[in-house]
Amino acid sequence: MKFFGTMINSGGVLEIGGIKVTELAEKYGTPLYIMDQKLIEENMLKYRENFKSNRFKTTVVYASKAFLSKAICKLVEKYDLHIDAVSGGELYTIKASGISMERVHMHGNNKTDDELKMCLDYNIGSIILDNEEEIERVSNICKEKNQKIKVMLRINIGIDAHTHEYIQTSKHSSKFGESIFDERFPEIVEKIVSDKNLEFLGFHCHIGSQIFDTKAFHEGIEVMIKETKKISEKLNISIPEINLGGGFGVYYTEKDTAIDIEKFMRSMIEHIEKSLEKENMTIEKISIEPGRSIIGNAGSTLYRVGGTKETFGGVKYVFIDGGMTDNIRPALYQAEYEAVIANKLDEIEDEIVTVAGKCCESGDLIIKNRKLGKAEKGDLLLVGTTGAYGYSMSSNYNKAQRPAVVFVKNGKSAISIKRESLEDLVRNDVYTEL
Ligand code: LLP
Repeated sequence: MKFFGTMINSGGVLEIGGIKVTELAEKYGTPLYIMDQKLIEENMLKYRENFKSNRFKTTVVYASKAFLSKAICKLVEKYDLHIDAVSGGELYTIKASGISMERVHMHGNNKTDDELKMCLDYNIGSIILDNEEEIERVSNICKEKNQKIKVMLRINIGIDAHTHEYIQTSKHSSKFGESIFDERFPEIVEKIVSDKNLEFLGFHCHIGSQIFDTKAFHEGIEVMIKETKKISEKLNISIPEINLGGGFGVYYTEKDTAIDIEKFMRSMIEHIEKSLEKENMTIEKISIEPGRSIIGNAGSTLYRVGGTKETFGGVKYVFIDGGMTDNIRPALYQAEYEAVIANKLDEIEDEIVTVAGKCCESGDLIIKNRKLGKAEKGDLLLVGTTGAYGYSMSSNYNKAQRPAVVFVKNGKSAISIKRESLEDLVRNDVYTEL
């Protein structure tokens, strides 16, 4: 397994943030999400320091759907990032963290009226309108509340980024955004611009997630700049902001060549500056929205091995005390991961095994046919790069209790999200005889 951040081999035991995972398992139990805070902070800083220009302002918006807790919100504020939300639940969690709500930007292809009201009540930074229907709804809610709100329009720029089809978001048939190829597109923009309750900031796009093909992002830059220029000339308006979305690919296994944040941010800035020059254009602000590339490699999941099984069909299973309830990505996207037997790092890895969870579901496999050290009952198995879309997509299937999330740094650890209790599982379960 590739080690990230503060991971080291400390006498055969994996250490993260200066603490042996054996100690973490003892203290917090398993399964356990471990977040390497130093690595999260380094990644945030890399974005802040490298995505900047002296020709325009820049904002790095952390995509909270990747992982959201109060602790991450505090880091967002500490490193002067912004944060997006895509539901009332995410808005509520961010608000509960106490950070300034001006940093918050609300997404969603089907925001409810209640969610829109929440955006206004919380005085968030902006709403990213997804479609024409939303314009009037947001405007009416503003009128009711006698408030104005800053808005962007999510546009579909028709880029076919190479990634899993479930996480592509900018093909012509995508459910997100208004297409720039639609002949009514200028009319839709005009509608926003002429609405007294809305302050139009500009366009937003997001071409997909876990993308390695940097050409797709560069293509995105060009299209966004050209389109912004075209519309601002056509409607004779100035458009202050462009948001280029997130989606920068990270390493999960040796098949992935991760995007280098520092290098790529600098090349994006250079490309933006050149394109603006070429188009003879100025812009006030450019934003990006990374999620996975900030938190992905910084998170790992620690499991206790319950036993092993060699099937008649030849598959060698290692059974762990979690599974698809804390990591749905292998089942949903055929995602692949690396793992180690974290308390036996010095043993040779020569067993080809499949790591299976405890759910009543044959597809509950976290790793299929990979080399691992010999695992025995009681060992600790750690799966790397589960920081993004792990906890946030976890479920209570089979009434699994969601694991705890612990942040570690410099030899210290702190719970960020508590493990669910059995009572939590029946908290909303009421019985009324009819
Ligand atoms: N901005 C918008 C509007 C998005 O929809 C997303 C991700 C992001 C930013 C952040 O993308 P990132 O930098 O994290 O790639 N559950 C899937 C990923 C879904 C991504 C959805 N949108 C997975 O586990 O791979």
